[in-house]
Amino acid sequence: MARNKTSKAWMQEHVTDHYVKRAQAEGMRSRAAYKLEQLAERDRLLRPGMVVVDLGAAPGGWSQVASRALGGQGRVIAVDLLEMVPLNGVSFIQGDFADDEILVAVEQILGVGSADLVLSDMAPNITGVAVVDQARSIGLAELALDFAVNHLNVNGNFLVKVFQGAGFEALVATIKLQFKQVLIRKPDASRSRSNEVYIVAKGLRSGRY
Ligand SMILES: C[S@@+](CC[C@H](N)C(=O)[O-])C[C@H]1O[C@@H](n2cnc3c(N)ncnc32)[C@H](O)[C@@H]1O
Repeated sequence: MARNKTSKAWMQEHVTDHYVKRAQAEGMRSRAAYKLEQLAERDRLLRPGMVVVDLGAAPGGWSQVASRALGGQGRVIAVDLLEMVPLNGVSFIQGDFADDEILVAVEQILGVGSADLVLSDMAPNITGVAVVDQARSIGLAELALDFAVNHLNVNGNFLVKVFQGAGFEALVATIKLQFKQVLIRKPDASRSRSNEVYIVAKGLRSGRY
């Protein structure tokens, strides 16, 4: 019963939400698309010609924003556990990014080159048990960080979503060892009651930690 009420309240909020309406009007696949748009604009993350890896990409809002910003030059490689309807200019791999075979598939598409920007909007399925959800969010961010450090060009950039809570400060400290500039962002399109934040890490250091 309580659960029904909550999901009704969620649906009510969702259909009246400004970014949901905008996404529907503008043909964007998610309201999350506007988070990347705002983050990328503020920190100048996307440019034509870049190689971008989008982790946790479905249904594809971030990939849409990235591929539009690339303007037909460069490439987007997207990964998700869930299926994603194909997008022009986006190579999609379905699977768990924690699996070695998925990592190998991404590396095969990357080829000898490396990435200019690694994005991760990966989020765990929420269990409602805060310590579990928090630990999983940090685990996904660490997975993305490990990939970014090993596959970005020197001076490449990394953007990752994470829940604020246990493990957050330690994660930020680790990222600071690897990147020249680290910023914590909460874009307007991120709901204020959500404890998600985005870490923008700019300029992978040449002498990696
Ligand atoms: C908030 S959604 C991403 C929304 C997307 N940025 C957009 O704009 O459409 C988070 C996604 O992370 C994916 N995800 C979570 N854990 C993952 C994992 N281990 N490997 C791949 N994808 C994962 C989920 O399936 C989910 O689609």
